[in-house]
Amino acid sequence: MVFPTHRPRRLRRTEALRAFVRETTLTPRSFVYPLFVRPGSNVKEEIRSMPGNYRWSVDLLVDECKAAHDLGIPAVILFGLPETKDEAASGAYDPEGIVQRAVRALKKAVPKLLVICDVCLCEYTSHGHCGLVKNGEIDNDSTLELLAKTALTQAQAGADIVAPSDMMDGRVGRIRAELDAHGFTHLPIMAYSAKYASAFYGPFREAADSTPQFGDRKSHQMDPANQREALREIALDIEEGADIVMIKPALPYLDIIALARRQFDVPIAAYQVSGEFSLIEAAAKMGWVDRERIIMESLCSIHRAGADIILTYFAKDAARTLA
Ligand code: PBG
Repeated sequence: MVFPTHRPRRLRRTEALRAFVRETTLTPRSFVYPLFVRPGSNVKEEIRSMPGNYRWSVDLLVDECKAAHDLGIPAVILFGLPETKDEAASGAYDPEGIVQRAVRALKKAVPKLLVICDVCLCEYTSHGHCGLVKNGEIDNDSTLELLAKTALTQAQAGADIVAPSDMMDGRVGRIRAELDAHGFTHLPIMAYSAKYASAFYGPFREAADSTPQFGDRKSHQMDPANQREALREIALDIEEGADIVMIKPALPYLDIIALARRQFDVPIAAYQVSGEFSLIEAAAKMGWVDRERIIMESLCSIHRAGADIILTYFAKDAARTLA
């Protein structure tokens, strides 16, 4: 009965028709480019597990960010590799820490670029955990104090947004209070709200040298099997004052993005993480997939599912493709 009257192929016959009825349009305006910053000068050290990504010294980071901004990418998110690591993660909240120095240099050289700072202790602790370890466990409440100090020093350095990725309970509220108490009532928080305990972070941990020396992150990051719990985490973060909420990883968790899009009215970000990146790069290198098409298709899917903002190591490539 429906066929032959209804023929969906009619609207797919030419590119003009397809473009005319296309539902999702990707633009670099929603991209965030993640970058790693390390001490030294004139250093551009390739990350073995993430080809085309580097640990940059501040001077070269500035050039890379200028190049990204020129391609229409509005924002970067910074991860720091400190000179030294210790149990108290001092490098995270040192006003002269590596990220704080990078933010100052970037805001001076590329003032219109949004500089987002990841707030977590794992890159700064000697044991690689996201918080203070007491009796073999990550202590939630004492960790909050250090996270708040970290976010404050990043704000003081000129960060445009702070992005807690630690998954401690109550951190958004604690950071909001710290920022407000020091005159940063205007500074947005982008919370990694539904962050899963994922094997897709493997290459990042090599990049940031943040693999836990014992145990794993399952006591604070979410169980990949859970969907309802993600909505609860997001709702709590919004109540605590999150301005943007994030789901991470992206492609394996499109259901979470889609559900969150329906349930909440705040902007939603999704992080196409290191493992998602490296899988594509590796398969492309083997000649098994079309690199450019698979990059654009994965980003389009993340956007179609409901993410307004996409953090991606492909930001520059995708921006070039879209230009
Ligand atoms: C924690 C943090 C991680 C990532 C972003 N922030 C690592 C982790 O939780 O182990 C992962 C990002 C990626 O894999 O690209 N500071």
